[in-house]
This record gives sequence, C-alpha cells and structure tokens, in this order.
Amino acid sequence: MAENSANNIDNLMHEARRFPPADAFAKAAVATGELYEQGEHPVEFWAAQARELLHWQKPFTPERTLDWSEPPFAKWFDDGELNVAYNCLDRHVLAGNGDRVALHWEGEPGDSRSFTYAELTTEVKKAANLLTALGVKQGDRVAIYLPLIPEAVISMLAVARIGAVHSVVFGGFSAESLRSRIDDASAVLVITADGGYRKGKAFPLKPTVDKALEPNADGEDSTVRNVLVVRRTEGEVDWHAGRDLWWHDEIAQVDTEHVAKAFPAENPLFILYTSGTTGKPKGILHSSGGYLTQVAFTHKAVFDLKPEEDVYWSTADVGWITGHSYVVYGPLANGATEVIYEGTPDTPHAGRWWEIVQKYKVSILYAAPTAIRTFMKLGRQIPKEFDLSSLRLLGSVGEPINPEAWVWYRDVIGGGTIPVVDTWWQTETGAIMISALPGVTTLKPGSAQVPIPGIAIDVVDDRFRSTEADQGGLLVVTHPWPSMARGIWGDPDRFVETYWSKFGPTTYFAGDGARRDKDGDIWLLGRVDDVMNVSGHRLSTAEIESALVSHPMVAEAAVVGAADETTGQAVVAFVITRASQADAAAADDASAVLRAHVAEQIGAIARPREVHIVTELPKTRSGKIMRRLLRDVAEGREIGDTTTLADTMVMSVISNTLK
Ligand code: PRX
Repeated sequence: MAENSANNIDNLMHEARRFPPADAFAKAAVATGELYEQGEHPVEFWAAQARELLHWQKPFTPERTLDWSEPPFAKWFDDGELNVAYNCLDRHVLAGNGDRVALHWEGEPGDSRSFTYAELTTEVKKAANLLTALGVKQGDRVAIYLPLIPEAVISMLAVARIGAVHSVVFGGFSAESLRSRIDDASAVLVITADGGYRKGKAFPLKPTVDKALEPNADGEDSTVRNVLVVRRTEGEVDWHAGRDLWWHDEIAQVDTEHVAKAFPAENPLFILYTSGTTGKPKGILHSSGGYLTQVAFTHKAVFDLKPEEDVYWSTADVGWITGHSYVVYGPLANGATEVIYEGTPDTPHAGRWWEIVQKYKVSILYAAPTAIRTFMKLGRQIPKEFDLSSLRLLGSVGEPINPEAWVWYRDVIGGGTIPVVDTWWQTETGAIMISALPGVTTLKPGSAQVPIPGIAIDVVDDRFRSTEADQGGLLVVTHPWPSMARGIWGDPDRFVETYWSKFGPTTYFAGDGARRDKDGDIWLLGRVDDVMNVSGHRLSTAEIESALVSHPMVAEAAVVGAADETTGQAVVAFVITRASQADAAAADDASAVLRAHVAEQIGAIARPREVHIVTELPKTRSGKIMRRLLRDVAEGREIGDTTTLADTMVMSVISNTLK
C-alpha cells in the first residue's frame, strides 16, 4: 500500500466529529435497525427483498435463491423470470402512477424535456419495437455511445426489454476505445447521436463512430450491421446508406404497443468495460434479477427514497456504473422522479448545478468528491446564491471523500443539518456495498462506514486473517451478493484470476486497501494495485503506458497516479523518447504531443496531467519498474528506499531532469 495513503489515514483516524441521526429524520426513515438483523441471513434477506421490490412473471423458488455450487460464478433467483424494463416502467403505470414524472432532463444549452412514467414507457416500447425490427434478439449486444440525453435511458431500457445486452461506452472515449469494446462484445448495433453539448460547445460523436467502424489494421470489418443516430446538435454528419439510420425517422414508423416478455433472472443485462491492471479493459458482465434487486434495495434504503415526494439527482453519466445502477435501474425500479443533466457543472456559469437543484427542487443529490472539492475551491458564495432548501440527503461515490469536503458538503450544500452518505462499491459489485443508512447510522466524515444489510465484508492481511482494529489491510467480500458480476465477457479465467484467486474461489478480492476502526467502521485507503482513480474514474497505468508506447517517438513509458488535491489522483507519465532530448524546448513539445496522443488513443479522461521526458526509468534488477519511487517524485516527496534498484543513481538523474 502506498505509504502516503497510510499517513493520510493516520490523520483521518483522529477525525472526531460525529453526526447522530436527527430524531425527526430517524422517525420517518425508510431504513431501520432491524434490517441489519435480517441481513444476518443473507440468502433469506435477499429473497425477501427480491419479492418485495420486484415483479416476477414467474416467481423463483426459495431453494433456488442462491446457487453457489460453482464459485465464483453465482446464480441468484435462478428459476425466476422477470422483465427488467417492465419493472422500471409498466408496473408503475399499472399501479396508477403513470402521471408521475420519471425523468426531468436538462440539456447543457438550457433546453429541457420531462417524461412521465406513462410517456417513458411508451418511448421504450417504441424503441423495443425498433430494435426488434432491426433484427436485434435476446442475447445480442448493442453498443450505446450517447451523450446524457433521454434517448440514452430509453435505449438502455429498450435493450433490456427485449432481453438483449447493452454495452454503454462513455461518450468521451476515442474511436479506438469504442472499436475495441465493439469487437470484444461483437456488437451488432451502435446507438449514437450526431453529437452532444459539453463545456458550452457541441462535440461530435458520429464521426468517432464512423472512424471506429472502418476496417481495422488487419482489414477486418466490425460486427456492426446498423448505426442508429439520434439528432441532438444538428451538426453535419457523413452518411453510410444501408448502415446508418436516423432514430427519429425509424421511431416514427413503429408500433407504440409492446408486450414485455419474461426472461430468466440470470439473463445477461449489460456489459460495462472497466480498466484493470493490464492494457485491455475488462467487460464486466451483470445479469438481471439479482442486479435489479440490490440496486433497488440500496437506492431505497441508502437514499431514504420516498418516491411520492422526492426528486432525486445522480450527477453521473450513463457511461459509468453509477449511471447504470443509480441513474437508470435503481431509481426507475423504485418509481422515483429524477433529474438528469447533459453537461458540465460550470457551464454556462459556476452555479449551474445549484440552479438545477433550485429549478427542480432536488431533494436527494448523489455526486463525486472531485466535484465537491472543485466547488469548495470556488467558494461558498456560489451555492449561496441559490435556494437549496429542498435538499434533505446528500450522497458521495467514486473515491474517498476527505472529512473537510464531507463537512463542507453537509454545511454549505446541506445547510448543516442533513445526512451525507459515503457509498463504497465498484463496477464489479454492481451496487452499493458499504454505506451508512440514513436515520440509523451515526455518521463519521471520511469513513464509508458499514456493510449494508445482507453484505459480508472483512478487512484481512495477506494471509487472510481479519486485521485488528485500526490496522490496514485488504478489503474482501466473504459471501456472494445478488448484484455481483457474473464474469468478464469472454474471459472467465481472467475473472477468476483477478478477483477470486488471492484468497480462494469464494472470497472476492476488491483491490482496495481498508482499515476498520474500533467501532467497526471502514475507512477506504485507495487501490492496492496499478489502478488509478482520477475524478472517481478508474484508469489503468498499463493502458496509458501502452497508449504512450504506441507513439513512434516513445521508447519506454511508466505511468503513476499522483495525489491531486481536486481529482483525488492525477495521471503522471515518465517517458524515454527515441531521440535524445538534450534540448528543453523539444522536451516541452514532446510532452504536449504525448498528452494529446493519450487523449486521442483512449479519451480525454486519460490525458496525463504531466508527461516528463526522462533518460532512464528506475528498475529493479529483474527489470520491474519501481512505480513507488516515481510516485515519490510526482508528489514532490523525499524519494524512498532505492536499495533494490539495479542502478541506484537513476533517481537522482530523474529528479534533476525535473528541476
Ligand atoms: O477504489 C475504489 C473507488 O473506486 C473503485 C471502483 O471504481 P469504479 O468501478 O469505477 O466504480 C466507481 C463508482 C462506484 C473502488 O475500487 N471507490 C468507489 N467508491 C468509493 C471508493 N473509494 C473510497 N470511497 C468510496 N466511497
């Protein structure tokens, strides 16, 4: 574990502020202390939640709640059948809530659209008919590459409705990244838009799809038959007759009725690619019944959801897991009214988020610490200009939230009285695993706190012994849970090896360091592998290194995640170029070229904050790069122990280059 995070956590452990639930909140809270007792029998607990929260066209039998006979490949509610989209839409209409708003969508330029549950159901039925007309069948993969517009939600639900599998690719990813995800999943259809709005500008998406679908380096075509294009920016687009179709033309021609067929609980629902420790992203696979049960339960209990009254807003994009679980499936399964926003927080002004909270009277806000720290820097006078009194609960996700940011969030955004819940989970876990339950838990700023009911978490040492209070260790999950990943698409061995081999096939190794304090509260310490967390998004050092060495100028590259005040971590690269870089101006140019190259190869989120051109990299005698030492340099610290370096002089050479 990085020494610096251990030091930081020592300071954190002295955090003494405590916030017990307010009486009035506790009295009306969705969550109760009894949930923890019920959760001690996880199989029965989750069976009860699945029955209570979802509509099953064919109920599962109690004996088939969990099949763990072939770990780590779990099956939940295996003989049950349901339709995920029906659970998120039709049943709310049938229950008399068709007039309730499901989505308030706010576009970045200030345009907006709202959909009631009845309207959203109709849109999804039409889209399901359209997909069927295009030959998409149960089990087929559909890539979705869209900005955060209503059609993104509609597309995901339409794919789910016909039992197909979506693979949403974040709109900031490059053509190369999109193509590799299309190839890996053999997607038959891409749903995209002409473009979207970000930072006050229209950005094109369709040209990226066109580029992604060109024959690859070996001259091979992609598996995609059609590209459905939503008109958003009205920007010019090239058209491939026979392949490309306008969404609005096609959707006008289909029937508005569609009967939702039941699919088995284990029918795959989606693939979502996430970075790991190698250069190739992993297609994390989730299935239907178990996933929907846990996202619905956690969305209700962790956010204290009262669907008749609340207006919920998760600021995440649908391209990430938070956008799947807590923008689409959790809130809609629970019949919530939610806000989605296309753009960036500071466009056209730094108070945009708070203006949206005021406009829609948002009561529950779920955001990432990076955004909160950015707002902290801008100062409290910006949110103070808006009426935020509708807020009654705040959530945090994606990275550790430092106590200062936590308290600022509660005080400045929450008016100093409302609960803040810090939620720990991952793409692989599908749903929240560790969090306070508002109204029940006494809150501790900086700690993600306790496993949610029905979830078994431990912090262990390398030999799988539970650590003593306040000792650092590795976070593991020791009992299967309903929304757990069902595998890595096309690579079961990698699934086993990455998550289920360190401590045997029934213990999930999360890749995070953690510490449990004397009260049993869990504090997350960051990744223990070569995965970075930049603004709550996971990036792999190996992936960025491989993008760097793909540039003809680069001979060797090493990437580290360096602590960053705002984004948690930032990408810092050390590169040896092929030509000698005696001249500083040339090094500056090379650095700019390589930053742009990474953005072009992977996407702007992976663009390094710094690229340092060096003449050597620190290596052990066996040739392994010592990233720990590079992290010391990148964070401006005294360089640690260099005795295992093959050449102990290397670090002073690198430090001198940087001065
Ligand atoms: O390191 C943990 C961090 O984000 C990783 C998971 O990233 P991803 O799959 O992209 O999902 C992010 C949204 C759920 C974890 O391994 N992480 C996530 N939430 C927290 C966190 N670290 C500390 N505190 C959190 N609340």
